[in-house]
Amino acid sequence: MKFSSKSEKKIQNQFLKKGYYVFNIKNKSNLNIIKNRVIKLSKAWLKKKSIKVKNISLFLDNLHNYINPRDLNEFRMHIYNEINNSKDFQKLYYTLGKDYIDILCGNELVMQRRCNLSIQLPKDDSSLLPLHADVWVGDSEYEIVFWLPLVNVYKTKAMYILSPEDNFKYSKKFSKFKSTEQIFKKIKNKLKWIKVDFGQGLLFTQNLMHGNVVNKENSTRISFNCRFKSAFSLYRDKELGSFFTPITIKPTTIIGMDYEFPDA
Ligand SMILES: [Fe+2]
Repeated sequence: MKFSSKSEKKIQNQFLKKGYYVFNIKNKSNLNIIKNRVIKLSKAWLKKKSIKVKNISLFLDNLHNYINPRDLNEFRMHIYNEINNSKDFQKLYYTLGKDYIDILCGNELVMQRRCNLSIQLPKDDSSLLPLHADVWVGDSEYEIVFWLPLVNVYKTKAMYILSPEDNFKYSKKFSKFKSTEQIFKKIKNKLKWIKVDFGQGLLFTQNLMHGNVVNKENSTRISFNCRFKSAFSLYRDKELGSFFTPITIKPTTIIGMDYEFPDA
């Protein structure tokens, strides 16, 4: 950070202080390509089930009018597979957060091969992510998550995160709790619910405790999330090749990796 510009430092300091950063996406055309692709795939899936879409405006917010919780996972997996199989998706996704990911994480990056898709229908408790930190279950502590909502998220429609300060405090008391549910109850009023509008992106460190609850708002939440890390930072269970793919490796690194010392 020593030689970061003033504007970069502002972003970096805020990320260090809060553990997350919300930004306005500049590349609106790529954002709309992704959103429209999701809508098109959704409509095609619904058509196969003979379900007609009546009103295309606010279609994603109203997904619960078309999909019942029983079919939600099949629907979600269909969109997840189709969109991740499209050749340009990863690049489109990266371009939306590139400026900030580079400032916060690095310029020789690896990216999760397949972006996760998460959908929370109102009042549905079947796809919850209770309090957790991904680093507890095999993710590298050097990862940043780029979280992209396709609808406005707020209150219980949003995700929550614990501040770095409280995360440190409660991590130290971890053994005193019997379950993460117990921790959740204890820290409930300390959690920050991150409001993110469609057109914005959220970057956060998954080292901090985070999660979601039942969506008590009256519209659906649909969001992508994808992990990035510096290529040469520590890997845990999620490995380069199987989980991560290099996206911005520079020529000097390629030359370095190929170098062989002369025979002695
Ligand atoms: Fe997570």
